[in-house]
Amino acid sequence: MSGRTMRRQVLLCIWVFSLGWAHGQVSYSIPEEMATGSLVGNIAQDLGLDVKRLKSGKARVYTGDSAEHIELNKERGVLLIKDRIDREALCGETTPCALHFQMILEHPMEFYTVVVEIGDVNDNPPTFERSEMRYEISESALVGARFVLENAIDEDAGVNGLHSYTLKPTDNFSLKTPVRGGGNKNVEMVLHKSLDREKEDRVVLTLVAMDGGEPQLSGTMQIVVTVLDANDNAPVCSQPEYRATVPEDAPIGTVLTRVSATDADEGVNGNIMYTITKLGQTGVFNINREDGAITLQGSLDYEKRKHYEINVQASDQGGLSEACKVIVEVLDVNDNKPSINIMSSSNRISEDVKPGTVVTMMNIQDPDSNESGRVLCILNEHIPFSITKTSNNFFSVVTDSDLDRERASEYNISITCCDEGVPSLSSSVTLTLHISDVNDNAPVFERSSYEAYIVENNTPGLSIFTVKATDADWNQNARVSYILEDSSVNGVPVSSYLSVSADSGVIHAVRSFDYEHIKDFHLCVKAQDGGSPPLSSNVTVKITIQDQNDNAPQVLYPVQTSSSVVAEMVPRSADAGYLVTKVVAVDVDSGQNAWLSYKLQKATDRALFEVGLQNGEIRTIRQVTDKDAVKQRLTVVVEDNGQPSRSATVNVNVAVADSFPEVLSEFTDFTHDKEYNDNLTFYLVLALAVVSFLFITCLVVIMSVKIYRWRQSRILYHSSLPVIPYYPPRYSDTLGTGTLQHVYNYEVCRTTDSRKSDCKFGRAGSQNVLIMDPSCTGTMQRIQNEKNILDEPDSPVEVRALLF
Ligand SMILES: *[C@@H]1O[C@H](CO)[C@@H](O)[C@H](O)[C@H]1NC(C)=O
Repeated sequence: MSGRTMRRQVLLCIWVFSLGWAHGQVSYSIPEEMATGSLVGNIAQDLGLDVKRLKSGKARVYTGDSAEHIELNKERGVLLIKDRIDREALCGETTPCALHFQMILEHPMEFYTVVVEIGDVNDNPPTFERSEMRYEISESALVGARFVLENAIDEDAGVNGLHSYTLKPTDNFSLKTPVRGGGNKNVEMVLHKSLDREKEDRVVLTLVAMDGGEPQLSGTMQIVVTVLDANDNAPVCSQPEYRATVPEDAPIGTVLTRVSATDADEGVNGNIMYTITKLGQTGVFNINREDGAITLQGSLDYEKRKHYEINVQASDQGGLSEACKVIVEVLDVNDNKPSINIMSSSNRISEDVKPGTVVTMMNIQDPDSNESGRVLCILNEHIPFSITKTSNNFFSVVTDSDLDRERASEYNISITCCDEGVPSLSSSVTLTLHISDVNDNAPVFERSSYEAYIVENNTPGLSIFTVKATDADWNQNARVSYILEDSSVNGVPVSSYLSVSADSGVIHAVRSFDYEHIKDFHLCVKAQDGGSPPLSSNVTVKITIQDQNDNAPQVLYPVQTSSSVVAEMVPRSADAGYLVTKVVAVDVDSGQNAWLSYKLQKATDRALFEVGLQNGEIRTIRQVTDKDAVKQRLTVVVEDNGQPSRSATVNVNVAVADSFPEVLSEFTDFTHDKEYNDNLTFYLVLALAVVSFLFITCLVVIMSVKIYRWRQSRILYHSSLPVIPYYPPRYSDTLGTGTLQHVYNYEVCRTTDSRKSDCKFGRAGSQNVLIMDPSCTGTMQRIQNEKNILDEPDSPVEVRALLF
């Protein structure tokens, strides 16, 4: 054993596939029968891999169906013998004998082909199946007659195989080992000196078979020749070689061919019997002893053996024999379907992998030959995967386009492999691949924008509206939260108006709204998913406040005061339809709630005046006559059209007179004004009391002075002083008139026909909405660009006011 050269050849070639995983091959050569644990080769070093990579990649040896003789030691990065390898058991006669297997790494997937060639060791001596062979040879056998001997078998290969034979003694027979086609050595012994039964009736020979190994091993067999009496002719085969072909699936009993030999002798010496001499093949083939028909007795397998050589011995009973050779060719039948071995496969893959990512690696085996062993693999249709052949018998399934979990969350990949035999055989496997989610979809609102309505004077906390967004992703990536985006409405953060529930998207009012303060506004709601990083989208919601009839009409003209009396003047010459005045009112509500109508509620003379329902104009119905009272008092109700409606009343004083003094005289004793009358009475009583008091005081003073003077005159009778009555100068005029002095002012305000006026009104009957303009305090301005009533020549109104 020590002399055996242990050559280790390393052939290394690495190349990189376009698919992105390395594929390499390494070859080793070792002798058979190495002890368990012996080193085969340092594969990590030979492939240029780090030992850590072997561990992280879960390196393993993949041998398919066959037994594992060699194992991988990941710690040292070496291949070791796991099992004793017997070359003869592994390969039989096939040379060279090699183990093929793969080393697979994951993350990323790589695989390397390893070939370990097993060298032969001379561990088998040549052996004969029998220890003794018997021949009966007639003494008349001719010199040159040939006798087929059994071949020795040496299971070793090459130089260790069968090498030579020797036959001893060599007195009568010599050894002939002709080389025939196929390199088979059929040993024959040739009679080179006639036998003489009378001299020697039994010859014992020793056949030694030797191999070429070192040391040389040998096997022996005894050949016992019984010398018979004369038989002159040996059988002769009709052909030097018989050929037969048989399909591997031929049933037992099939006749392959018929061997025939003839013998010129007569009787038993010419009676030929056929036997198969190569015993190793008797289990498969059978020969009919009588007619030489060769039939199939066992089963054939093209994949195991394609070719048989049968040695048929045709012998007559006189002891002569001839060797006929039969060559049987086995024909291949497509009897093996491809076998699919999944080497590595992932059952979950992220939806964002690039096209070309390897999903599965497979090894396909079909032991049939030619077309029957050529395999083609396909995938089921309409899936984003393709199958490619990476090297002989290796296929990988890769993604060939982008995946989208939202479209398909799992795929059943059916791999079908067919061979090209006729008929074709196929097998298939189905892999289920789950696609895992990536946050690649933003939430989408059900509508591109929303509009919501809320009636003013709502209770705070009222839920107004719900926005909803959906997200096509899965689980956390699809969990939508709603967020109110910061913005401001009239300078106030929108969050002080509304709040959005993060989970449900319900929008709540935070405060009570007032239509007269704010009519509508926009807010922006963001929907955000729970992915990392999160995705979001926005939507605009328009909130419109709806009006309620919460404001009563306000009368702007005539102005109602408590301290003065205002009257409109109507000349006695006025015709029917004379415009007396116009009641102007506004309502800060809108629409129907601000649509005002005017009605006459009370009037001194209902037959004289009417009020325009729409425009509030007070006109005379008929011609004014002299009989009509100067003072006319009207009460007008202004009502809006809301539900329920609200109203206001206004009193209008009208004076029917031609001149101002007439009005004045009439209106001075506005004595039915109770307060005025009471005051007058009070002043009159007070004045009377003061006057009475002063008068009595004067009388008393005068009386006192008279009495005093009378006494004085009685004392000083001649005194001539004048007597002057005393009047306090302040009261002299007051006593003269007897009435209170009146002080009055006169003012005319032309409110509707003056362009300088800051009070402008639209037609009372129009539907215009009037709003308060802060720049014009206490005045009203019309918004619409409508022709102003003030420009119409037929409608000036003169309003006269009297202030007392
Ligand atoms: C894959 O196959 C399984 C089992 O047959 C089945 O339940 C599933 O629906 C299939 N999936 C697809 C996407 O066809």
